[in-house]
Amino acid sequence: MTRRVAVVAGGHSKFGKRYDATMRELCAEAYKPVYDAGITQDRIDATVLSYAASQFTGQGAGSALMADSIGLQEKPHLRVESACATGTASIRAAYGMVASGLYDVMLVLGVEQMNRVSSATATEYMSRAGDMRWEYPYGISFPAFYALMASRYMAEYNLPHDVLSMISVKSHHYGAQNPKAHLPKEVSFEEANNAVPICRPLNLYDCSLITDGAAAVVLVAEPRVKEFTDQPMWIKGMGAGASEMMIQDRPSLTSIPGAKRAAKAAYKMAGLQPKDINMAEVHDCFSIAELIAYEDLGFAEPGKGRQLIENKEVYHTGRIPVNCDGGLKSKGHPLGATGVSMTYEVLSQMRKKAEKPTRQIKDVKYGLVHNVGQSGQFVNVIIYERGW
Ligand SMILES: CC(C)(COP(=O)(O)OP(=O)(O)OC[C@H]1O[C@@H](n2cnc3c(N)ncnc32)[C@H](O)[C@@H]1OP(=O)(O)O)[C@@H](O)C(=O)NCCC(=O)NCCS
Repeated sequence: MTRRVAVVAGGHSKFGKRYDATMRELCAEAYKPVYDAGITQDRIDATVLSYAASQFTGQGAGSALMADSIGLQEKPHLRVESACATGTASIRAAYGMVASGLYDVMLVLGVEQMNRVSSATATEYMSRAGDMRWEYPYGISFPAFYALMASRYMAEYNLPHDVLSMISVKSHHYGAQNPKAHLPKEVSFEEANNAVPICRPLNLYDCSLITDGAAAVVLVAEPRVKEFTDQPMWIKGMGAGASEMMIQDRPSLTSIPGAKRAAKAAYKMAGLQPKDINMAEVHDCFSIAELIAYEDLGFAEPGKGRQLIENKEVYHTGRIPVNCDGGLKSKGHPLGATGVSMTYEVLSQMRKKAEKPTRQIKDVKYGLVHNVGQSGQFVNVIIYERGW
């Protein structure tokens, strides 16, 4: 049995350095709008809880804590982990269980609390997602992975750093209009382009943020959807792709092979092409990652992604709006919550619930989420369809 599955509701905490909140409180903050929409605990069959790394808080068995924090301690729950792609991996797991008929109603709750440790320690923990024998000991942190990709891309396609800064300016432009964003401020091109180097050629404004936050979505099987909403967002296509563990083994550094595989599978399942997509939430953990995503998702030919940002086609009024919530760069990147937050944003845009008209995309029939784990070992692409 395979049933159609829809996202019927979502919730989102404020992202930021949330020293004011425990992990329990972040979970409750993300679940509250779902509860207020009438999806009380008794209506939820089971939960997938998404967090990427227990080291940040030291909390083991975090899924039990998360379920307990929102009153779901008696319902079945499990934790999914796929580094920074954990949120969409959790949605994928829940989709399988709902489509198969195991459960009718599932909550996917993503959370990460990264600022309980210093940035240096967080960087060290994240670096452990690299190969502990051949990458980590040589200092290949996340900024270093993406700096290698940026260097290669810049050399192959003669790309000036200016183009990466244009992406950062866009992210902050939209983050400044998102009350849930971690760093909601506009930055000028000069500020972004001349910022302090982090790992050359990437500077501070090329990097996503180290963020605390949580997000939630509810997945329901088709026969029960009408009980929950008359504005369902259907899961139309879903693709997962993987890449070689070490980037030195990959055929190219100017694209992410797993992302291309995931996109191909998602488009095939949806019966759609890149030109059909009305908005995308892409995994801009670094500015270069957003540029590469334009190409891996088929919105631009290899080496031509720069035209999308130079011509403002990825702004909210453009041909393919990308990350009009600020993205990982300005909204923030609490690892386990990120893919869930992206899905929440697609739902909000489809329902025309963006907080400001200046970031509301006009008419979203198909929205795409692209969520990359580590330097591309795990990638999920999900295509959603407006159901009203
Ligand atoms: C770039 C980075 C090292 C900066 O961390 P940091 O030096 O500890 O920065 P702090 O938190 O001390 O903040 C210092 C200042 O820089 C700002 N800042 C921090 N990170 C920033 C970022 N990514 N972009 C823009 N500004 C940033 C802070 O707001 C703060 O500004 P203020 O002094 O005006 O208040 C960190 O953000 C980082 O590692 N980002 C990448 C995260 C990552 O790899 N995620 C996984 C990717 S898949």
